[in-house]
Amino acid sequence: MDSETELRWAQDSDCGAIARVELDSAEYECRREPIGLGVVEFATVWRGRLSSGTHKVVVCCRGESLLGFISLAQSIDQGYINALYVAPESMRQGVGQRLVNQAADLVRAHGGTRLIAEVEPLNEGGARFYENLGFFRVRQLPSGLILFFKSLQGVFRA
Ligand SMILES: CC(C)(COP(=O)(O)OP(=O)(O)OC[C@H]1O[C@@H](n2cnc3c(N)ncnc32)[C@H](O)[C@@H]1OP(=O)(O)O)[C@@H](O)C(=O)NCCC(=O)NCCS
Repeated sequence: MDSETELRWAQDSDCGAIARVELDSAEYECRREPIGLGVVEFATVWRGRLSSGTHKVVVCCRGESLLGFISLAQSIDQGYINALYVAPESMRQGVGQRLVNQAADLVRAHGGTRLIAEVEPLNEGGARFYENLGFFRVRQLPSGLILFFKSLQGVFRA
């Protein structure tokens, strides 16, 4: 990660790039079912999520390029990561870790004490990523997704 890379809140104008990054990155997620939307439709979904306030999204950018993003659904203090996607060409450069650390700071600032994430059962890279950041595998949910948990109490960095 270089000094030209910044984290900031997502804006309406980011939704096209958010949709593109998620669709490209999801190819590496070993999903059981494809997302099933094109970029334009998916950007509209993200625009609705941002404007309704149901999702709080932080993007990682270098200049005009969106390298990745993280989304917290529900209220921030719940610490529920409902999406974390890094563009394939930017993977393994610390973007994901930086986004999770930023989410942890936000959750703490809102009085939250945990982060939770749900990972596709075949997504071994994603599971390894979360485990390396101090998350624990909790259980498989009825949806088939694997629930990961990290306590933020007394922990200041992943
Ligand atoms: C999983 C994902 C978010 C990781 O983001 P990233 O920016 O590539 O990861 P980082 O560079 O911050 O990785 C930090 C550490 O996590 C671990 N890690 C990351 N990706 C990994 C992988 N595919 N396999 C094993 N370990 C991995 C490594 O320990 C890595 O440190 P290292 O590169 O020094 O060995 C990204 O690969 C991605 O978007 N994948 C597709 C979507 C997805 O799976 N999202 C998460 C589940 S919803």
